[in-house]
Amino acid sequence: MTLEPERQPDIPEEAHEARVRDASEVGASTAAVHAGEPRCRAHDAITTPIVQSATYTFANTAELIDYHEGRIAREEYGRYGNPTARTVEARLAALEGGPDRETAALLCASGMNAVTTVLLAMLPAGSHLVVTDDSYRRTRQFVRTLLARLGVQHTVVPACDYAAIEAAIRPETRLIVSESPTNPYLRVLDLPRLVSIARQRRVKTMIDATFATPYNIQPLKYGVDLVIHSATKYLGGHNDLLAGAIIGRPGIVGALRESQGMLGGICDPHSAYLLLRGLKTFALRMERHNSNGLTVARFLREHPRITRVHYPALPDHPDHAVAMEQMRGWGGVVSFELDGDLEATSRFIDRLRLPYIAPSLGGTESLVEQPALMSFYELTTEERLAVGIRNNLVRLACGIEDAEDLITDLAQALND
Ligand SMILES: Cc1ncc(COP(=O)(O)O)c(C=O)c1O
Repeated sequence: MTLEPERQPDIPEEAHEARVRDASEVGASTAAVHAGEPRCRAHDAITTPIVQSATYTFANTAELIDYHEGRIAREEYGRYGNPTARTVEARLAALEGGPDRETAALLCASGMNAVTTVLLAMLPAGSHLVVTDDSYRRTRQFVRTLLARLGVQHTVVPACDYAAIEAAIRPETRLIVSESPTNPYLRVLDLPRLVSIARQRRVKTMIDATFATPYNIQPLKYGVDLVIHSATKYLGGHNDLLAGAIIGRPGIVGALRESQGMLGGICDPHSAYLLLRGLKTFALRMERHNSNGLTVARFLREHPRITRVHYPALPDHPDHAVAMEQMRGWGGVVSFELDGDLEATSRFIDRLRLPYIAPSLGGTESLVEQPALMSFYELTTEERLAVGIRNNLVRLACGIEDAEDLITDLAQALND
């Protein structure tokens, strides 16, 4: 895609040329540092400014009319766009690299807001969506509760069960929603297969690729219609902001931007700036998350106290072949099961010294959680089992620490 930088009013026209005009011609790290930013920025600063403004002024009525008539591109009001956020959007679109160099991105207040914006805007009353299981709990909860109240029906199907996905499609189905990799079992969808099923039935596809990031997979290249990210995770990368992103063709993203103007879930300029800052080291961080995840997964697989490791790069993972073919790396999240009960698993977690006990993933610090006592705490053991969550399951989100230190820590905590 061509990276059109945001016009800055106080610098000469020639300085608007982007340092990286086409992200497909450079590596991920170069795109992560330069894409979407003009060569020169306001006040000669090397950083994109935080434009902390709720509204934007017009010099006179003629300018206002030029704006309405599309003769000039500029901001109008903070809910419809912000220069700092637009720079991040250009960078995310470049990193996601869709087909035909025609990709646009929309920043949102959070990952959940990205999900709900798409679902509310694309699913009218009486329509139906197919959603895969083993996906973010709140997405399924939204579909089951608020969306159902608006007259949108849904069918939950097992992730990667393509026959079930196909069978669930009805004449009124508009959208197939899945994650890849999924949470917490890291199931990896065969995207060309999914897209082929959807296209035959004229249904659109939305993939929440938060766990993969555009460094590891670019779903738009396989024909997926919309990619969603919780930018709170790897894209921001420092556990210090909440943001979401929707990426796809300019037409559909433009329509979603219109919806955001009504729904109001914008990313504030400070978070947009933090995201832009985090993105500069995105590719570097992903390399380390990927290598830490793989090293830790291999260590755990050999440990006598671990009964099962869920990581796509391991040969016994059900989607190993697809993951090896379609992904560049498999991320920092490793899910695994201990040889003990709920309490023994909690003891192991409490003995860990490096990872913090916290929900989330994708930041510089390793985080660990026992899903039974984190997201699924209100459920009984039987109810948890019904949704596939065992009491001895651990989800470790490797940060960017040294792999040897993570392994030393895991080894001592397992030595109970
Ligand atoms: C896969 C996935 N999608 C969406 C979300 C929601 O993102 P946010 O917390 O930024 O709203 C999360 C959060 O954990 C997630 O893991």
